[in-house]
Amino acid sequence: MGTPETTPAAPRLRRSLLWVPGDDEKKLAKGPTAGADALVLDLEDAVVPSHKAKAREIVRDTLRDMDFQGAERLVRINPLETGLALDDLTVTMAGAPDGYMIPKVRSEDDVRFIDHALTNLEAMSGRPQGSVRLIMLATETPEAILNIRRIAQASLRSSGLMWASEDLSNAIGARRSRNDDGSLPDVFSFARSACLLAAAATGMDPLDMPFFDFHDDAGLEREAREAAEIGFTGKGAIHPNQIPIINRVFVPSDEEVEEADALLLAATEAFAQGQAAFVYKGAMVDAPHINRARKIVARAKTAKERTS
Ligand code: COA
Ligand code: MG
Repeated sequence: MGTPETTPAAPRLRRSLLWVPGDDEKKLAKGPTAGADALVLDLEDAVVPSHKAKAREIVRDTLRDMDFQGAERLVRINPLETGLALDDLTVTMAGAPDGYMIPKVRSEDDVRFIDHALTNLEAMSGRPQGSVRLIMLATETPEAILNIRRIAQASLRSSGLMWASEDLSNAIGARRSRNDDGSLPDVFSFARSACLLAAAATGMDPLDMPFFDFHDDAGLEREAREAAEIGFTGKGAIHPNQIPIINRVFVPSDEEVEEADALLLAATEAFAQGQAAFVYKGAMVDAPHINRARKIVARAKTAKERTS
């Protein structure tokens, strides 16, 4: 561990990831105005089968022509077993996206297959090898949850894991994915925790699933806050109205930053006296608390840079 005043490298900010149906030109045009950190142009569930081919071309042209206003440019392709995924990659790579979101992953073999395809497409389009990023929807199949650590480690392109309950629910034959009080039944709670742990263990962004009732701001805020408190760094979104709430929740509040600054100051003084563990506000503080405070400060700084 370095001295407490060293700030870690500024983390990339991926608080909000807004899905936009890939064949809906009106919503695509509106996407960048929402203020999301990432836009996910969807070729999968938001596009009916008869529009899949046309949607690829619309997404390619949107990537080429639209000003994303600094948002990360992502495409969600169709699952490998549909036979559509390779064409999705081939057509849309011509628009040079920043990365892809991969649904219904099952194992590390799926990830390696996509990784190899992208390596070839990068060579053909003159992009640096390995530059296209991947975010995995890592809990949509039961196999994925059992393989999640290997999925997370299968490609150096991987930079995020998102958990989601609806496709998992279908796959296991669950009749519902929420209890009456909005909490998660055990199996979904397990999937969510597995995603968080696998992402933390492999240095990836742990991402919470979207909240579908886009009229329920209080419900969204509650769910997002709970996710942020246990370590998720961002959350999917389906509607522009959700973005300001998510962006606010996934950066530390002014009070949190002030507390972190005060703790770091105390740590600097304690270090100067040769103490790595010390008493602060009546309780013991040592490396994990100090590291958490450093992360809070770094994250707030990145958020300020993104929004200024
Ligand atoms: N991206 C960009 N713009 C969006 C948007 C989105 N995801 N969702 C809504 N908008 C736009 C609408 O086009 C509308 O624009 P306008 O004011 O210029 O007419 C405005 O925001 C308000 O939308 P609203 O009328 O409240 O919603 P809607 O009935 O048009 O759409 C949904 C509701 C759920 C169909 C829409 O939000 C949507 O398509 N979400 C994404 C779905 C998706 O991709 N799912 C797959 C991942 S889970
Ligand atoms: Mg789905």
